[in-house]
Amino acid sequence: MALKKILTFPATVLRQKAKKIIIFDEALRQLAADMGETMYDAPGVGLAANQIGVLRQIVVVDVSKEEKEKEFITLINPVISAGEGCVSGEEGCLSVLEYEAQVKRFQKIHVTAHDLDGKPLAFDAEDRFARIIQHEVDHLQGKLFIDRISALKRSLYKKKLKKLLKGRK
Ligand code: NI
Repeated sequence: MALKKILTFPATVLRQKAKKIIIFDEALRQLAADMGETMYDAPGVGLAANQIGVLRQIVVVDVSKEEKEKEFITLINPVISAGEGCVSGEEGCLSVLEYEAQVKRFQKIHVTAHDLDGKPLAFDAEDRFARIIQHEVDHLQGKLFIDRISALKRSLYKKKLKKLLKGRK
């Protein structure tokens, strides 16, 4: 396994659409394992392939029930086929440095995807789990949670980031 570098906004690859996966092989398993390791190292609760510079439709989502556990699921070609309810909740992103904001999401969603063997999956997700999946599926579409906040908040964040990046140089 190997840790991957997580790219951050405004990296171009975060704005591109990931391609559907059609080959389910050992390399894909390796990619999923690396993504899981990278996510927990960060640490985060979800990671999409765009974030490590890979434009393929694969995300990993933490499903640990206890704090020290490292259990995650891998969703290939995930699609949110239905959604209901609307809830506001705090979100951050490993690719959006030092920022959190309230984002509105569906409370409950229906998800279709494939597992690592290419087997079709279909399930419902609610609350925190649903929020993470919606956030990660956005990544595959080239979207970030800061696209879902007000233009004013977004421009304030961009200013803050500019200062932050300047300070780091
Ligand atoms: Ni994210």
